[in-house]
Amino acid sequence: MTPNLLRPHAEQSGAAELAALAAVDDRPRPPSWRLSPWAVLTYLLGGTLDDGTVIIPKYIGPRRLMEVAVATLATDRALLLLGVPGTAKTRVSEHLSAAICGRSTLLVQGTSGTAEEAIRYGWNYARLLAEGPSEGALVPSPILTAMRAGAVARIEELTRIPSDVQDALITLLSEKTLPIPELGTEVQAAKGFTVIATANDRDRGVNELSSALRRRFNTVVLPLPASEDAEVAIVTRRVAELGAALELPELPSAADEVRRVVRVFRELRSGRTADGRTKLKSPSGTLSTAEAISVLTSGIALAAHFGDGVLRAHDIAGAVLGAVVKDPVADAVVWTEYLEAVVRERPDWSDFYRACRELAG
Ligand SMILES: Nc1ncnc2c1ncn2[C@@H]1O[C@H](COP(=O)(O)OP(=O)(O)O)[C@@H](O)[C@H]1O
Ligand SMILES: [Mg+2]
Repeated sequence: MTPNLLRPHAEQSGAAELAALAAVDDRPRPPSWRLSPWAVLTYLLGGTLDDGTVIIPKYIGPRRLMEVAVATLATDRALLLLGVPGTAKTRVSEHLSAAICGRSTLLVQGTSGTAEEAIRYGWNYARLLAEGPSEGALVPSPILTAMRAGAVARIEELTRIPSDVQDALITLLSEKTLPIPELGTEVQAAKGFTVIATANDRDRGVNELSSALRRRFNTVVLPLPASEDAEVAIVTRRVAELGAALELPELPSAADEVRRVVRVFRELRSGRTADGRTKLKSPSGTLSTAEAISVLTSGIALAAHFGDGVLRAHDIAGAVLGAVVKDPVADAVVWTEYLEAVVRERPDWSDFYRACRELAG
């Protein structure tokens, strides 16, 4: 274990579970896979092994989606995880890679500045000048490294990458070969090579995925949690895990505040109250599950260090406000309407109403 890292990689945090799975896993493994598809699925969704080992769920959501994702990777097709921000696309991609090939770090972070070198290869210019084009002067991209190793390469935020750079992926994914004309050679992917990409629904229009590229991927859409109870379950679990990882002091159950934050987020996100009676305006931000988790985590830090050790409304009000009001003008109007029309009317929310009003000054 590596206790001093702020954010261990999935293959580090999951090392014990992955080893336990490998030990009991007697099902067939696709070429180069460290585990069978069954064991990869169990690692993702959690479960209890015959020897009593408990595998904690990494993804909480429809089983079928993860089955499709894992089955896709066992074929020669790449996987595209699509969804709004905070639906665990990155998390699923890291844990899938770690379970399948033991490394989640062959990563290309997509931005508008991502160049073809990040997908193909670049050069160490000092050596290029000294030696000319040579294997030693070549700087492989994470994708090239994955091709050679028969491993999983990850591409985050694929649609942020400029279209002409995305195009470099098309032949690579269909031919499973990367030509290196400068050396007169090519790299042919070893068995086990595949790509997991993530892309944000909301980025549509930034750089649309070309249909040629989209055809190279099987797409799995990760949904927002279907119900309030489902979202409360995800947030509760992740807040507890993060609190433990950050070694925050433990608080007595924060269940009430978790449910309240989730309720506020879901109501504003969907534009109507949970009872369906009141229509609401939605703020500009996404109010994702991931943001609910961070609101509660900062609330716990406040309560533990500066409060009375119990998570209370005024420990979360500031962070809720920060998450909702991204645009200081339009979102502030949305928030005030919600506060007065909904929060104020709930008798058991008076503490939260007061805390929010105090913030408004
Ligand atoms: N369905 C879910 N199951 C487990 N964790 C989730 C789920 N949805 C959101 N999360 C939490 O949200 C965090 C952020 O997710 P992330 O993978 O960064 O989202 P995305 O890449 O889709 O924006 C995750 O680390 C996890 O804690
Ligand atoms: Mg992400």
